[in-house]
Amino acid sequence: MTNNTILRFSNIEKSFDNIGVLNNLSFDANREEIVCIIGPSGCGKSTMLNIMSGLIEPSCGQVINQSQNTSYVFQEDRLLPWKDVYQNIRIVNKKSSHEYIMELIQKVGLKGFEGFYPSELSGGMRQRCSIARAFNYEADLLLMDEPFKSLDYNLRIGMIRHLLTLWDSTKKTIIFVTHEIDEVLLLGDRVLLLSDRPAKVRREFRLEKPKCKRNLTDADLIDTRNEIIRNFQSENALPS
Ligand SMILES: Nc1ncnc2c1ncn2[C@@H]1O[C@H](COP(=O)(O)OP(=O)(O)OP(=O)(O)O)[C@@H](O)[C@H]1O
Ligand SMILES: [Mg+2]
Repeated sequence: MTNNTILRFSNIEKSFDNIGVLNNLSFDANREEIVCIIGPSGCGKSTMLNIMSGLIEPSCGQVINQSQNTSYVFQEDRLLPWKDVYQNIRIVNKKSSHEYIMELIQKVGLKGFEGFYPSELSGGMRQRCSIARAFNYEADLLLMDEPFKSLDYNLRIGMIRHLLTLWDSTKKTIIFVTHEIDEVLLLGDRVLLLSDRPAKVRREFRLEKPKCKRNLTDADLIDTRNEIIRNFQSENALPS
């Protein structure tokens, strides 16, 4: 383990009522890295994040989280219904300036909606508010669980760009769970492809090209995409 390691999973096992969810899972995340986790529905991705954040304990194995603070964008947004967009973002760090909060609101495309309450927002808007809130929290490790799932294609690509800009100015380590291969290709320094439940790391991909220079039509990204799809399919393929 080096000084650069912020998070380590060593041989993590997790079961709920004797149902195995995580199976001898090991990986490291380094400072300033974006690690994407992709895998079949129900294989244990959210469980992994819950263990990283300390919300739940593993059944076996060791977790080392060397971050100062961990911020978590949950799969479902957890905004306070009685506070508006601005207040929901501000509440996690009252030291932030008004200008910084307004900049975050603008970066997630919610300018003009500062005074709206969660019940007055669409699912995607609520999710974007959660992302701005996570960035306002002073954390060096950010866990994100399918944060763009309620967004259409263009908004999703726009949010990926915004996330990269926010990452570039803060260099937080991000653990990003998704089902979308495009998100993985544009955001990840490394990609962990998980197996079916009980999950273990089935393949690890490394993406070398600087994240801000990537384009989904790049030949190397297309090769990685094909390889990810092949690995996904080989496990889920029906017997012929
Ligand atoms: N608190 C819990 N009690 C019992 N079983 C649980 C609990 N949390 C998760 N599970 C089970 O663990 C398995 C993995 O759940 P998890 O939410 O981690 O999957 P996931 O990969 O995030 O799925 P999705 O892609 O649908 O979000 C599921 O079978 C789920 O029923
Ligand atoms: Mg999940």
